[in-house]
Amino acid sequence: MLEKIDSLISEVEIFNADTAEQLEEFRLRFLSKKGHLAAIFAEMKQVLPEDRKSFGQKVNELKNKAEEKIKFFSEKFEFKGDETIHGLDLSLPGEPIQLGSRHPVSIVRNDIVEIFNRLGYVVAEGPEIEDDWHNFTALNFPPEHPARDMQDTFFMDDAIGMALRTHTSSVQVRVMQTTKPPIRIIAPGRVYRNEAISARAHCLFHQVEGLYIDENVSFADLKQTLLYFVKEMFGEKSTIRLRPSYFPFTEPSAEMDVSCNICEGKGCNVCKYTGWLEIMGCGMVDPNVLENCGIDSKKYSGFAFGMGIERIAMMKYTIKDLRLYYENDERFLEQF
Ligand code: PHE
Repeated sequence: MLEKIDSLISEVEIFNADTAEQLEEFRLRFLSKKGHLAAIFAEMKQVLPEDRKSFGQKVNELKNKAEEKIKFFSEKFEFKGDETIHGLDLSLPGEPIQLGSRHPVSIVRNDIVEIFNRLGYVVAEGPEIEDDWHNFTALNFPPEHPARDMQDTFFMDDAIGMALRTHTSSVQVRVMQTTKPPIRIIAPGRVYRNEAISARAHCLFHQVEGLYIDENVSFADLKQTLLYFVKEMFGEKSTIRLRPSYFPFTEPSAEMDVSCNICEGKGCNVCKYTGWLEIMGCGMVDPNVLENCGIDSKKYSGFAFGMGIERIAMMKYTIKDLRLYYENDERFLEQF
């Protein structure tokens, strides 16, 4: 038995592999379940107790030498890029890495931000979990006021008095509290509403709201700013229309429609044959709101506006269902 092991040891010592196949064959012959070492281990029981020690040493020597050979040659083959030690061929071209693309909401948000940047607006941000005062009370929605029904949201425990913000107007409040006019900001961000999910409504969406406060800011400034935005966003031919509306924090308030960019105002199924699409709310900041935030309403006036990014992206790319934005379906996302 010992002689057999000795002869196997010399066989290992003189072994030389030219190819990976030869090395693999060697490995199978010595180290696999059906190889020499397994067979020797199986015979171990029959060895006399007094011989076991020397026998064990020989077996270990054989095992270590066989493993060293394998290690040596595998490194050599791997280094040369020879094929298939581990099925790896370093000379082959790599797997293609797919490039991702920006989400349509991000693309349109960046477009909007860029346009307002050119007019001197800077981006402001605030928390998504907001207290009642910043989201509602400071903006003239006192508790129990029916206007709160327009923006139902997800409330935390009553004792904490926090809720998911329903609009980024709360960011405007934060900026007015801490900054002296003139103020020119836009607040992009995610907002939440307690709404049933459908093709046209979701419990979360994204907004860009804007605020301009200075001395002698008038409704004419508001109108011209928004007209400029629309022409930059949808093209020179686009026009706007303002309709009287109501928001607790602006007076007067308006809804702004833009001429349908698909039919150029002639009427189609996207604009429901009206030639107009509603894209934002706007108005002159209510003096109460300015005072709530520590701004002298006798000296300063301002305007505010807010729009949903998803809605603008829907127009830009003719997307028909709001739910597509949040489903992470690559077939949808890779189109942008
Ligand atoms: N905050 C309003 C909303 O989310 C939008 C708005 C902003 C309207 C500013 C007027 C002025 O519906």
